[in-house]
Amino acid sequence: MEIIGHRLDTPQRLYAFGELMLLPGYATLSPREIDTSISFEGLNLKVPFISAPMDTVTEADLAIALGLEGGLGVVHRNCSVDEAVAMAEKVKKAQIPEGNATALKDKNGHIAVGAGTSPLDIDRAVALAEKVDLLFTDVASFHNAKLIEGTKKIVKMTGKKIVIGNLGTKEGVIHSVKEIGKENIAAVKMGMGGGSICITTDVSGVGSPVTFGVEQAALALKELGLLDEIPIIADGGIRYSRDIAFSLSLGASMVMLGNLFARCEESPGETITKDGNRYKVYWGMGSAEARKKRLVADRYQDFGRGKQVDEGIKMHVPLEGRVDEVVERLSSELKVTMGYIGARSVKEMKNVARIVVKTATQEKVGIQ
Ligand code: IMP
Repeated sequence: MEIIGHRLDTPQRLYAFGELMLLPGYATLSPREIDTSISFEGLNLKVPFISAPMDTVTEADLAIALGLEGGLGVVHRNCSVDEAVAMAEKVKKAQIPEGNATALKDKNGHIAVGAGTSPLDIDRAVALAEKVDLLFTDVASFHNAKLIEGTKKIVKMTGKKIVIGNLGTKEGVIHSVKEIGKENIAAVKMGMGGGSICITTDVSGVGSPVTFGVEQAALALKELGLLDEIPIIADGGIRYSRDIAFSLSLGASMVMLGNLFARCEESPGETITKDGNRYKVYWGMGSAEARKKRLVADRYQDFGRGKQVDEGIKMHVPLEGRVDEVVERLSSELKVTMGYIGARSVKEMKNVARIVVKTATQEKVGIQ
């Protein structure tokens, strides 16, 4: 088919979080009465926050701290299978302080935890399937024949549902769901190129901003009649609470956070002090630093050229505080949005939210 010559006639417009705004709605509850919880595969998350499976974000300590606050930690895969299993076991052994009603508990009363795996790393997936509550495929672009085949194998061998991703388009979601089977998919994770440490789009020109990706997934699942069955996770580029609110308003049920959790005391990265300020190291899983630790060769394409292409960078993020403090801030701010738009629950956000695009921002005039 001849399509050359008309590709720019009707290009799709993509939006960054900063271009969006929510219109106020009719509020009936005070922020204290608003509910940020969401149920996901039998787990009751008190906050819809999942930590990214990255080696500067989620190891056992952060997963425990986040689990105690009602979110889900996903341990990374930039390590041996034994090390990943040890992380999961450490989370399961952690004590839940008496009287903690927010903790994310599995059916045995232990802290729930997820783990990242490559769809091609069957040994890791099988070893972790018994140890964790949920497996997440952790690849930059899931819409790939080999990765879909590998995931099918994992599902067959473990007999468990799996979170697939990342995906960026409606076609990718429809195709992947049909191939793997709706009954085998715990969630679809959307977004490509939007991560704060990500240079995939600069290098390759390819991406799917999470605003666009989430909406694409919603359209795909609607078409498949699965909107209420398969939740959407927004992943990459979420910096402010408003970005969480936009993601949930566009159709996501949960958000995955890298940068925001790398800023916590419990994240594995080292702390450095510069000019009296404390920072934590944070790098992409496709960065030279992550590869130095252990080759995550299959997360990003190799193309057999011998030299790996950098798709992530290293940065230092300000140390913000403990996980409980960061979760408290993010969830309080999310409740403010929910109050303003008149949503009583996360689920209700996508039904009541009215999203508009800002054409100009108002300048703040004055001094502080
Ligand atoms: P952040 O919350 O904006 O920092 O984005 C975190 C997300 O970026 C992760 O959950 C991954 O989906 C993605 N990611 C992690 N490492 C890399 C990388 O090296 N390049 C591109 N994307 C990455």
